[in-house]
Amino acid sequence: MITFENVSKVYEDGTRAVDSINFTINKGEFFVLIGPSGCGKTTTLKMMNRLIPLSDGTIFVNGRKISDFNIHELRWDIGYVLQQIALFPHMTIEENIAIVPELKKWKKDNIYRRVTELLEMVGLDPDTYRNRKPSELSGGEQQRVGVIRALAADPEIILMDEPFSALDPLSREKLQDDIIHLQKSIKKTIIFVTHDMKEAMKLADRICLMNDGKIVQLATPEELISHPSNDFVRDFVSGASWMNSDFSLEDLMEPAHHNNLSSSPSLTAHASLEEVLTLLSEHEQIRVEKNGQAIGYINRQMLIHYLSESVPVGGNNHV
Ligand SMILES: Nc1ncnc2c1ncn2[C@@H]1O[C@H](COP(=O)(O)OP(=O)(O)O)[C@@H](O)[C@H]1O
Ligand SMILES: [Mg+2]
Repeated sequence: MITFENVSKVYEDGTRAVDSINFTINKGEFFVLIGPSGCGKTTTLKMMNRLIPLSDGTIFVNGRKISDFNIHELRWDIGYVLQQIALFPHMTIEENIAIVPELKKWKKDNIYRRVTELLEMVGLDPDTYRNRKPSELSGGEQQRVGVIRALAADPEIILMDEPFSALDPLSREKLQDDIIHLQKSIKKTIIFVTHDMKEAMKLADRICLMNDGKIVQLATPEELISHPSNDFVRDFVSGASWMNSDFSLEDLMEPAHHNNLSSSPSLTAHASLEEVLTLLSEHEQIRVEKNGQAIGYINRQMLIHYLSESVPVGGNNHV
C-alpha cells in the first residue's frame, strides 16, 4: 500500500530529520510511528502526502510514485488529522466536515447524508451538532470532528499526527476506543504518530520505533516486548508513561495454584515491570509467587493486554 525506499529528509539548515528509511505499510493496517520528540515522526508522515518534499529516495502509494500523483488527488485521497484541533472557527461543524467532499464536487444531498452518518459514527447527535460552531464544542468533541473530517471523502489512507495528545485522559481513551472501532468497521489504512507507548500498544497492528531519523525496530506490539532488538527498545517499552509506581503482578495475572506452572520461571508479585518484560522476552509464561507459593501466572498476551488497558491518571486499574 505505502512503501518507503531509502527515504531521507535533510532540511535547509542541514538537519537530517529522516535518514534512509525503508518500510512497507500494508493495506488495512493500523501502523503506529513512535519515538522520542524530534526523531522524525512528523517529517515521515508529512512526506507521505507531499506536505514535505523528500531529499532522497522514493515513496510509493499503491505501487505508484507519489511524485507521479496529481497533488490534489494525493491530498484529497489521504485523510489527515493534525495534533492541534484545526477546525475553521467561522464555519459550522457541517461545513468543516464537508470541505473535501465540496472540493470533490459531491452533490449536496450526498454531503448532507455523509455528515449525518459521520457524526452518528462518533456519537455526536447530527441535529444538535451540525450547525454549531467549533467554539460551541468541548475539546474532545472538536477532536472527534477533526477525525471524522479526515474520513469524510472516504480516503483509503488516513494520517494522524498525535491527534489525541492535547486531550484529557478520559476523552483520549474514548477517542482511542472510537478509532479502534472505526478502523475495524471501515478497514482503512491508518498511519498514526504518537510518543505514547501505551497508546501505541493499544492501537497498533505494528509499531515502528524511530530514533534520530532512523528506524530502530518495526514489529508487532508483542514482538517489541518479547524480542526488543536492543536496549533502546527495551528502555522505551519499559520506561513508557504507563509505568505505574504501584504496579503489582496481582493486577494482571490469572490466579492459579495448579502444579503445571512449576516449569515456568517465577517472580514475586512485587517484581518491577522491567523484570517482567525481561523475563517474558525469554519465556512464554511466568509463575507469580507470594510467600513461596504459586498464586498465578502471566504470559505475553496478558501483559500486552494490561499495558494497553487504559489506566486513568492517578487511578488504579482494578475492575
Ligand atoms: N522546517 C524544519 N527545518 C529544520 N529542521 C526541522 C524542521 N522541521 C523539523 N525539523 C527538525 O527535524 C527533526 C525531526 O523533526 P520532526 O519530524 O518534527 O520530529 P517528531 O515529529 O518526531 O518530533 C528535529 O530535529 C526537528 O527539529
Ligand atoms: Mg511531531
